[in-house]
Amino acid sequence: MLKNFYIENYGCQMNIYDNEIIISILTKNNLFYVNNIYKADLVLINTCSIREKAEETIYNRLLFLNSIKKKKKFFLLGIIGCMAKRIDSKFFFKKKILDFVIGPDKYRELPNIIKSFNNNDNRYFYNIILSNEETYSDIFPTKLYNYNKVTSFVTISRGCDNMCTFCVVPFTRGRERSKSPNNIIKECNKLYNMGYKEVTLLGQNVDSYLWCKKNHIKKKIIKEKNKTINFSQLLEKISKSLPNMRIRFCTSNPQDMSLDVIKIMKKYDNICKYIHLPVQSGSNRILKLMNRKYTRMEYIKLVELIKNIIPNCSLSYDIITGFCTETEKDHLDTLNIMKYIKYDFGYMFCYSHRKGTYAFKKLKDNVPIIIKKLRLKEIINLQRKHSYLKLKKYINTIQEVLIEGISKKDNNYYFGRNSQNSVIVFPKNKSKIGDLVNVKIISNTSATLIGELKN
Ligand code: SAH
Ligand code: F3S
Repeated sequence: MLKNFYIENYGCQMNIYDNEIIISILTKNNLFYVNNIYKADLVLINTCSIREKAEETIYNRLLFLNSIKKKKKFFLLGIIGCMAKRIDSKFFFKKKILDFVIGPDKYRELPNIIKSFNNNDNRYFYNIILSNEETYSDIFPTKLYNYNKVTSFVTISRGCDNMCTFCVVPFTRGRERSKSPNNIIKECNKLYNMGYKEVTLLGQNVDSYLWCKKNHIKKKIIKEKNKTINFSQLLEKISKSLPNMRIRFCTSNPQDMSLDVIKIMKKYDNICKYIHLPVQSGSNRILKLMNRKYTRMEYIKLVELIKNIIPNCSLSYDIITGFCTETEKDHLDTLNIMKYIKYDFGYMFCYSHRKGTYAFKKLKDNVPIIIKKLRLKEIINLQRKHSYLKLKKYINTIQEVLIEGISKKDNNYYFGRNSQNSVIVFPKNKSKIGDLVNVKIISNTSATLIGELKN
C-alpha cells in the first residue's frame, strides 16, 4: 500500500499553491505528506515549461530520480504541472521511468490513480485534459511551505487566454477561469484566523478576473455584466472584509489593468502599493510580434496614471531579450523605456523558443544566444543601477515592515518587506516574526534596505 508522498516543486508561485491543493487532496485520502524523498512511496514532480532551461533541469532530475527509484527507495514517480502536456510520456512509461503523468486540471484524479496502483489494476496513468471550469475552489490548500505562517498565496484564477506568441502557458494550463469570490474571501478569512498577515492573489492575469454566479467561463458572461464581479470589486471586497490583512496581487497584464483597480489600491491602506507590470519589450514592433495588446506609449501612459494616483507605488517588470527578429534598435527601445520609467526591480530572461507556440511555428529564433546574453547583461546592469538609486531614496525614512523571517545572511537579523515590496533587514530586538513594525532605513545595496527598529 502506498502511504507517504513527497512533492518536488519547480516553477512559479502558482505551482507552490497547486502543491498545497494536492497535499489537501491526498491527505484527505489517507496519504501522508513527507518532507524527505527517501521516506516516500510516491514522488510527484510539479513541473515548469516556461523556458527550455526549466524543462532541461527537470529531465536531468528525472535521471537521478530514476536511479533512486530503481534502487527501490520509492515506488511511484509521476510528472504533474505544466510539462504534463509536453513530455513524451509513452517513452518514459516504456522505459519504466515514470508511472503517471497528470495535467494541472486533473489533480482530483490522484487518489483514484493511487487506488488503482494499490489494486494493481493499472500500471501507467495519463490524464492531461484541460478544463474550462476546474478552479479547485472548494479545496482549502494545506499550508506547509511557509512555516512562519506570515504570507500566503491565494490563486484567484487559472489559465490564460492571452496567447502571447512566445508563451506556452495557454497550452499547458488552458483557458482562463475565475474562482468564486465567496470562496476566495472564505479562504483569506481562514488564513487570517490561522495567523497569516499577508495574502498574494495569484493569476496569470489577475486584472482580467471576472466571475458570474451562473457560469464562470468568461466568454459566456460578458453579456451579463451587471451580475458579474471583476478584479477591482474582488479586491475591494477582500480588503474591506480583512482590514488587518496585507493584500498583494500578481500578475497584472498592462492591457487589462483598469483605472478602478488603481483607485481601489489608493483607497485601501491594506492593499500594498506595488504592481508587477510585465512590459516584455520597449519596441512597438516587437510588442506587436509578441501579440501584447499595448503599445509602448499606452504602457507609459498607464505607468503615469498609476504614479499620478499612487505616487509611492513601486513597479517591477518582466523583459525578454532576443525575441525573434529583435534588432539593436528594438533593444535600445527596451533600455530607453527602462530609463524613462526607472523600475524598482525586474525579472529579465533570454528568449527561449518554445515548441507549440505561435512564435515557434511562424517566426525565426534568429538572435544568436551570445547577443541575447549580452543584451540581458545590459538590462541587468541598468536595473541594478536603478534599483540602487530607488532604494537609496528610502534612507532616513521610516518604513512599515511585516517581519517574514530570520535573515539568511545573519541570524541576528530579521527580514521583511514594506508595502512597496522592498526587502528590509534589521537587527532582531524584541519584535517577533509576523509583527508589523516601523523600521528606520540606514543604508542600502541594490537589492536590500538595511535599517533599525524604531519604537
Ligand atoms: N502571466 C504573466 C506571465 C507568466 S510567464 C504575464 O502576464 O506576463 C512569466 C514570464 O516569463 C513572462 O512574463 C515572460 O517574461 C517570461 N517568458 C514567458 N515565455 C517565455 C519564453 N518563451 N522565453 C523567455 N521568457 C519567457
Ligand atoms: Fe503567457 Fe502572456 Fe498569458 S505571457 S501567461 S500568454 S499573459
